[in-house]
Amino acid sequence: MATDNQQFKQLLDISRDLASTLDLDILLRKIMRVAVNLSNAESALVFLFDETKGGIVLQFSSNIQNSRTILGSDISSDSVAGQVAAQGKPMIVTEINQDQRPIVTADPLLPPTIRSLIAVPLVAKDKVQGVLQVVNKKQGLFNDSDVDVLTVLAAQAAIAVENSRLYQQADLINELVHELRTPLASILTITYLLKRSDLTEEQRLQFTESIADEVTRLNNLASSYLEYSRLETGRLTFTASLIDLAAVLQECSRILQPKAREAGIQLTLSLPDRPLTFEGDENKIKQVVINLLNNAIKYNSPGGHVNIDAWGDSQKVGFSVQDDGIGIPEEDLPHVFEKFYRAAQIQEAYPGTGLGLSICSRIVEIHGGTIRVQSQVKAGSTFTIELPVCARDYI
Ligand SMILES: Nc1ncnc2c1ncn2[C@@H]1O[C@H](COP(=O)(O)OP(=O)(O)O)[C@@H](O)[C@H]1O
Ligand SMILES: [Mg+2]
Repeated sequence: MATDNQQFKQLLDISRDLASTLDLDILLRKIMRVAVNLSNAESALVFLFDETKGGIVLQFSSNIQNSRTILGSDISSDSVAGQVAAQGKPMIVTEINQDQRPIVTADPLLPPTIRSLIAVPLVAKDKVQGVLQVVNKKQGLFNDSDVDVLTVLAAQAAIAVENSRLYQQADLINELVHELRTPLASILTITYLLKRSDLTEEQRLQFTESIADEVTRLNNLASSYLEYSRLETGRLTFTASLIDLAAVLQECSRILQPKAREAGIQLTLSLPDRPLTFEGDENKIKQVVINLLNNAIKYNSPGGHVNIDAWGDSQKVGFSVQDDGIGIPEEDLPHVFEKFYRAAQIQEAYPGTGLGLSICSRIVEIHGGTIRVQSQVKAGSTFTIELPVCARDYI
């Protein structure tokens, strides 16, 4: 049970730090870093309970080969991590080669590079929130005192994770309610107007169309909001694979081509001849591209142009979506990636939720990439995204 003083001091410092971190991604990375330091391990993994899946999923891992293949997938209860989550008790495997327990020998999650491990449950309010696992002690063997220290860390980490989820949900719900008020108020106003007897048939038709528009907006708001809140609270999991950016851009532009034609916009693609391969979650990256293309077409006028460019080297890949549409006023530029933000000039003229770019920026951030915007009113906008080729440390 001996825990040396230095470890205790570290734990105290950490608990303060964890308690003040409300961003779930940053929090989990901190927890993994600290777990690795305290136990002198090579790397760490964090699994979190996912309500939609009814079990734990791998949320983050540092430095582990092959772990990407299981990112985001369900962890069955006949794996070490699964069992620790189910039973709420820590587990130590000092030497994997010599461990004959079936749960260890049959664990599908343990690649051959893993020699030893400790898994501890993240328990807050008597509920298992997830599992923290460290692998491969750098010197010597994992012992009970490592388990003790990680158990103390896990207890603090679980509270911090729970706080961060609650905080983000409360924050998001406030904002959602605020956003719901506007369309609801206009629907109410229109229904009052519809009751008047002196309306022409044409006016009546117009009013009912306005109601339909507002309801569509509410519907879009609901689905974008769900997507955004899942991203924000870390409940949306990412599955990384090797993907070709050029192919993704081609496919997205094919999807949006009919919409562009309908709006009188010319959509073109300038791609290098070679593939631009990188690690990422293909569906999420497609979502980013489609969001950007949608905006470039929407905030534009007939006769306008949208061009996609792409590039890459051994470190990163990138692409830009450039349009010659209405542009964004300078005072709005710093805010366009904020949730629910829409430039003042466009509120009435173009329907939208103000969530598209915040979803994009969150996805890019989770990939360890960057998103930037340059724009000039009436001249157009360019959104530029760069992503690391090797996302292992991020996703
Ligand atoms: N290509 C673009 N051209 C001009 N303005 C844009 C463009 N893309 C985004 N914007 C501005 O950024 C705001 C936020 O965009 P977004 O998050 O996609 O929400 P939405 O499109 O639903 O309004 C938009 O309301 C608009 O003011
Ligand atoms: Mg949009």
